[in-house]
Amino acid sequence: MSGKIVIGILGSGTVGSGVIEVLKKNISDIEQRVGRSISIKSVLVRDLTKKRDHLEGIQLTNKVEDILDDPEIAIVVELMGGLHPSLEYMLRAMEAGKHVITANKDVVAQFGEHLFATAEQHKVEFRFEASVGGGIPIITPLKQCLTANKISLIMGIVNGTTNYMLTKMTEDGSDYEEVLQEAQAKGYAEANPAADVEGFDAARKAAILGSIGFNTRIRLDDVSVEGINNIKAADIAYAKELGYVVKLLAVAKDYGDKGVNVRVHPVFLPSSHPLAMVNDVFNAIFIRGNAIGDAMFYGRGAGALPTASAVVADIIAVARNLVIGNTATVGCTCYNNRPICPLEETEASYYIRLQVDDEPGVLGAIATAFGNCDVSLKSVIQTRMVNIHAEIVAVTHVVKHKKVEAARELLEALPVVDKICNIIRVDDE
Ligand code: NAP
Ligand code: HSE
Repeated sequence: MSGKIVIGILGSGTVGSGVIEVLKKNISDIEQRVGRSISIKSVLVRDLTKKRDHLEGIQLTNKVEDILDDPEIAIVVELMGGLHPSLEYMLRAMEAGKHVITANKDVVAQFGEHLFATAEQHKVEFRFEASVGGGIPIITPLKQCLTANKISLIMGIVNGTTNYMLTKMTEDGSDYEEVLQEAQAKGYAEANPAADVEGFDAARKAAILGSIGFNTRIRLDDVSVEGINNIKAADIAYAKELGYVVKLLAVAKDYGDKGVNVRVHPVFLPSSHPLAMVNDVFNAIFIRGNAIGDAMFYGRGAGALPTASAVVADIIAVARNLVIGNTATVGCTCYNNRPICPLEETEASYYIRLQVDDEPGVLGAIATAFGNCDVSLKSVIQTRMVNIHAEIVAVTHVVKHKKVEAARELLEALPVVDKICNIIRVDDE
């Protein structure tokens, strides 16, 4: 093997150390696959005094210039996380003619367009397979293997923390606060778990999937976001009783002339749906194409080695192109400019749980409010007493989101309604 391909890594935390471990463990096969030797020259960290067993023999630095200004380094792998200075370092690496690989969904979702334009201008590659679904191959399948299809739907469980929490709530009947503490203790949820439980982590991944799947730029602001922070043990129990499981889904759907809608929200999924069987911290992405039909990609959405699997595959892909001198790689695929279909125009069945006064005529008043908003009910059950109030669960037929929102307003104004506890979409497709 003549010459070698030299890499610089920005960050050596969970994923960075995983990348170094995978490269060390599988180096012989990797080098044969590439046809050239591969070496990590420098790793950027913040704290040079931290003990790092996995970095023996590798040069550590806290000066990014040691990597960005080193002409020998051909590939820069960004694994620091956060928007800044990760974005600036990646841009500088590209400007210096280096290929860039990242696992950073925050940067890709917000600055993907800018990064692609800079990569194109400087004739370098920009890859980000690990940014969605951790170790699950999904960016490359969407950008390459599924390009024969017109994609109509992408629907995924893309946040491991919330999937773990919902699984625990379903299996043990535990309440939200309890499982959140458990997820934090196990190191799944962040110390500040807002990005996970409020749906923003999934929204970034949804924006990336939607942009690639529909070949149109989906900005973070285009994604409607609802997390799992209002899901109660009661909702999980009713879901079970009705034959569903609750999952937090990232959904990107084609609404034809109305455009593309991208959203994150909890859903009642039929227990027989393939995504309903994805439990714990596992992720899965379900895709519907007009040639392949339905396909699902399943695996570990986070963690050192699974995420490193995707990052190292990107390194191998760039290295192979370097070896054969291929500069014509797939860049930005957002060649369309599709409108964003507003959430109000999307349709679903809805589960509505509300607490009302326990007196005659209440069911009639509620049914009238739904009827006035053109919301047709599939079923209504008066289920139990909660203190002095009766709890009612209604499931609607498929209806536009704006009609359900109108019904919510009308119901909230009814004197007999104490509160609307939750409204959750029901997937009955
Ligand atoms: P992490 O454990 O917090 O590691 C971050 C690393 O970057 C640390 O080594 C840190 O240095 C270094 N770093 C951070 N800011 C820096 C700065 N300004 N200058 C120099 N070094 C800096 O993060 P992670 O979990 O590995 O995540 C890395 C990226 O992968 C993120 O974009 C994340 O979203 C993405 N990702 C993570 C997972 C996962 O399972 N963790 C899965 C998919 C994608 P010190 O060690 O000195 O503190
Ligand atoms: N916080 C993320 C999750 C990590 O729970 O899935 C992987 O992006």
